[in-house]
Amino acid sequence: MSWVSKTLNSTLGRKVLMALTGLFLILFLVVHLAGNLQLLIPDGGEAFNKYAATMANNPFIKVVSIGNFAFILLHVIYSIILSRHNKKSRPVGYSITKASSNSTWASRNMGILGTLLLIFILVHLKGFYYEVKFGSIPMTSYEGVEFKDVFAIVSAAYSNVLYVAFYVLSMGFLAFHLSHGFASAFQTLGLNHVKYSPLIRKVGLVFSILIPALFALIPLVMFFQN
Ligand code: HEM
Repeated sequence: MSWVSKTLNSTLGRKVLMALTGLFLILFLVVHLAGNLQLLIPDGGEAFNKYAATMANNPFIKVVSIGNFAFILLHVIYSIILSRHNKKSRPVGYSITKASSNSTWASRNMGILGTLLLIFILVHLKGFYYEVKFGSIPMTSYEGVEFKDVFAIVSAAYSNVLYVAFYVLSMGFLAFHLSHGFASAFQTLGLNHVKYSPLIRKVGLVFSILIPALFALIPLVMFFQN
């Protein structure tokens, strides 16, 4: 057995893979948010549409995008493998469970939160990614150059109150998922230290509130502007 398959068949190796893919997805979220915040610039979508075109035509971004989908898939597959392994190792729960006193609600419900986020991602990809890549998307032009009007699609989606509610609720799930996942990834990678762990936990908490809150702000602002 090669060291790669040995690592991926061990519990620690699987946890490391979850941590690394999770940290990559966290980085993706920051870049994605920075791009999406341009939706709030009051210029009729010009900055956002130009940004979307730059991203779509950049070969490096195309590679990152493939990596992104692969990492989402790996993160999901390994979370299922790990939780099945945990269930098999302990088919009967502890006789004395005081889970709420030594673990957070988020840490005990990462599987449910992850599943809800997966549903969000699938709906999101169908609504935006699929439409932009394969749908019949309207065009617009700036200084005589034609651009896909991605802003128009996003704006139309966020004029629907149910869609906005779904986004805001999903960002709540994302906040809880990140509130455990961020610090947990560092711990799995052995980057815990008496001096730095409290700081990592604090940064994780701020991150897990701020990033989803800003993501949720976009549909809310666009809905009220519509
Ligand atoms: C207000 C919130 C959001 C907006 C407006 C938004 C908008 C978009 C748009 C327009 C695309 C298609 C980009 C293109 O192909 O040109 C896209 C792709 C994507 N979004 Fe979002 N997004 C939001 C939140 C999120 C969140 C919270 C996640 C993850 C939890 C997410 C995950 C993705 C992924 C994985 C893709 C495919 C990116 C790729 O090509 O690699 N998005 N988003």
